[in-house]
Amino acid sequence: MSFNQKSEENAETRTAPILVTGGAGFIGSNFVLDWLATGNSPIVNLDKLTYAGNPENLAAVEDNPGYTFVQGDICDAKLVPRLLEKHRPRAIVHFAAESHVDRSIHGPEAFLRTNIDGTFTLLQAARTYYASLTGEEREHFRFLHVSTDEVYGTLAPNDPAFHEDTPYSPNSPYAASKAASDHLVRAWVHTYGLPAIITNCSNNYGPYQFPEKLIPLMIANALKGKPLPVYGDGQQVRDWLFVLDHCRALRTVLNQGRIGETYNIGGNNQRANLDVVHTLCALLDELVPASPHKPHAQLITYVQDRPGHDRRYAIDARKIQGDLNWFPEESFETGLRKTVEWYLANATWVEHVTSGAYQHWVTQNYSGREAAVSAEGAR
Ligand code: NAD
Ligand code: DAU
Repeated sequence: MSFNQKSEENAETRTAPILVTGGAGFIGSNFVLDWLATGNSPIVNLDKLTYAGNPENLAAVEDNPGYTFVQGDICDAKLVPRLLEKHRPRAIVHFAAESHVDRSIHGPEAFLRTNIDGTFTLLQAARTYYASLTGEEREHFRFLHVSTDEVYGTLAPNDPAFHEDTPYSPNSPYAASKAASDHLVRAWVHTYGLPAIITNCSNNYGPYQFPEKLIPLMIANALKGKPLPVYGDGQQVRDWLFVLDHCRALRTVLNQGRIGETYNIGGNNQRANLDVVHTLCALLDELVPASPHKPHAQLITYVQDRPGHDRRYAIDARKIQGDLNWFPEESFETGLRKTVEWYLANATWVEHVTSGAYQHWVTQNYSGREAAVSAEGAR
């Protein structure tokens, strides 16, 4: 094969789309927007549009010819293989999940279904699809499983941070379901040779995060003068990462990560929850000087602790830094300021997700999966 022929083939492989699942959620929509903005290949987004999936997040790329949206469930064992056959992606980036720990405590069923059964369905379809690939398509295909540091359990104050070899010890139904999905991915690599990679990331924050999670909830409540509910003593520690740093890490792993490896991703920003809430209140005092609720810290209210609440998470990210040269660009201070500014500039978005208005938008535009799939088929 001549050099020119080879580079044409490479170019073809690069223009094949990638398939993301859960691309209308918080991290997924940041990833899709960033992917298209940085001129990568086309992207197909398979999302069920649960309460956490919001097509408004992706309004900016709706008419982009490189973007295809499919409303559907990753548990649908007919739909997923059909999509792989039709779009022939060069990679799958698997975000779709039930993601909120509190919801998993009140109703674990959906977590087991989507996070475990859904991942299983996707792995089976990916395995069949991978078996049909040859040459460069086969060589370059990757399945990237986006997971969490919560699989490792909880740390005492002086414990070393989670390392890739830290034993799994999940404590919440959410964490257990993600741990199960990680184990499935690992087994599909070792048993069937699926070229998969797992990432385990710490707490993300940034634009488009649903205001059930700590940071957007506190911003939304403070702006309305509502109580800021701090669980227990507020001394639980999380290790925060700006969402676009996570997206960049995922792109790096997708391009350079080694098959069968896991990579921990984190920004080395350990903070006690109460400190995070105080910092947010101070930022709001500064950025909304006319707020009738100033000082916002007066809204802090201690409430009953989350059952089984993990005390501390911390990520040792030396592997991804050393092997793949990924480093976060945002400090917690700059990232948090950008986040507060984004929520202030996007009050309508917050209003829509809290009122459920975006779900009416969904109903109007996609009346069920079949309609959405045919909308996708029309592209
Ligand atoms: P999210 O809850 O904001 O979004 C989840 C998305 O998945 C939504 O768009 C939802 O509609 C979709 N979805 C849910 N069930 C589905 C199904 N059965 N079929 C198709 N789509 C479905 O979640 P997020 O915070 O963006 O997290 C994305 C991924 O990253 C998850 O796998 C999560 O475990 C992982 N993760 C999140 C964080 C974090 O701090 N948010 C940190 C580390 C890892
Ligand atoms: O560590 C990664 C994980 O981070 C992800 O895998 C999850 O999908 C994501 O939801 C997040 O889980 P947490 O449980 O850490 O996030 P949450 O925002 O729900 O809570 C952060 C901390 O704040 C946690 O210690 C609980 C506390 N908290 C949370 C809420 C919603 C409060 O004190 N008050 C609150 O109202």
